[in-house]
Amino acid sequence: MFASLFLTSLTAVAKVSANCAHGTSVFPRLPNVTVSTFGYDALKGPLNWYALNKTANAACEKGTTQSPIVINSTISRVQGSTLNWTVPDYSDGAEFQNLGTNVEVIVDGSLVDMSSGAAYSLAQFHFHTPAEHRVEDEFYPMEMHWVFESEGTATPQFAVVAFLVELCESPGCTDPVLAAVFSTIDDIAVPGEAAMTGPLAFGQLIDKFENSQVYRYGGSLTTPPCTENVDWLISTESLYIDVPTWLSVKKVIKYNARYTQDVLGGVNLLQNAADDLCKSTSD
Ligand SMILES: *[C@@H]1O[C@H](CO)[C@@H](O)[C@H](O)[C@H]1NC(C)=O
Ligand SMILES: *[C@@H]1O[C@H](CO)[C@@H](O)[C@H](O)[C@H]1NC(C)=O
Ligand SMILES: *[C@@H]1O[C@H](CO)[C@@H](O)[C@H](O)[C@H]1NC(C)=O
Ligand SMILES: *[C@@H]1O[C@H](CO)[C@@H](O)[C@H](O)[C@H]1NC(C)=O
Repeated sequence: MFASLFLTSLTAVAKVSANCAHGTSVFPRLPNVTVSTFGYDALKGPLNWYALNKTANAACEKGTTQSPIVINSTISRVQGSTLNWTVPDYSDGAEFQNLGTNVEVIVDGSLVDMSSGAAYSLAQFHFHTPAEHRVEDEFYPMEMHWVFESEGTATPQFAVVAFLVELCESPGCTDPVLAAVFSTIDDIAVPGEAAMTGPLAFGQLIDKFENSQVYRYGGSLTTPPCTENVDWLISTESLYIDVPTWLSVKKVIKYNARYTQDVLGGVNLLQNAADDLCKSTSD
């Protein structure tokens, strides 16, 4: 009882001081960012992304290699070290934005597929709660996506490095990058807000990726316009986040997981539903 009261008051103190620091040089308030026009609920949600723009979002309804999927042993794996992934450290933090559909961090970086020579630049990394990909049908509480865009190709090609994030219990068990990013989640609680993360160093995260096997498949962006030919690179090693941090993050991100798509090469589930409805009305 005493312990829990003590913890509650500590949390309250931490919250107040975070709010007091908001807008100071420690946690500068940055100019607001533009929030997304799509969403995850009702007619803004994934069942209706195609209708939001039938030209731009055609792949959301018609694509046959859409993401996310259920990953199992039939998905191929490569060694992480066949990808040369680099991200500089940001000792003063990096910009952290709440886009309404997502919270994302803007950092520079590069990815080179050393087997094909394909080269990409990093656009940003962001998070989904719950995770979008599932492994052997199991869901995870969070997923981290690093979005890379090709250099020097006529049409943009994407590669996404992903980590599934699992819960952990002991104090300090959160991966350092997640801890530094989410230390300022309360400063971007409202869509449109932006702030700086804590100091970021990526060496340990990148080593985790390079030193393990990586699931690899050709899928799509999991948000409109659902562009295909995305080179998905999903670490077989999860990251970890402690429960209190996860609870504070899901309060802000809320729900942003696209539903699981059909098997790779199978009919798009929306196209399938539309075809079935058409058949039943003409019966
Ligand atoms: C930025 O967003 C916050 C939170 O919604 C709002 O209070 C503030 O007025 C916005 N500022 C501008 C310049 O739009
Ligand atoms: C739909 O997307 C196309 C291509 O990106 C764009 O040119 C057009 O303005 C969009 N239409 C609407 C209504 O947003
Ligand atoms: C893996 O998933 C595919 C697609 O859902 C399925 O057809 C296949 O039977 C699964 N294989 C195993 C070994 O679980
Ligand atoms: C990986 O990329 C970095 C930055 O472009 C480069 O300095 C380094 O030499 C590359 N490493 C390998 C093994 O190619």
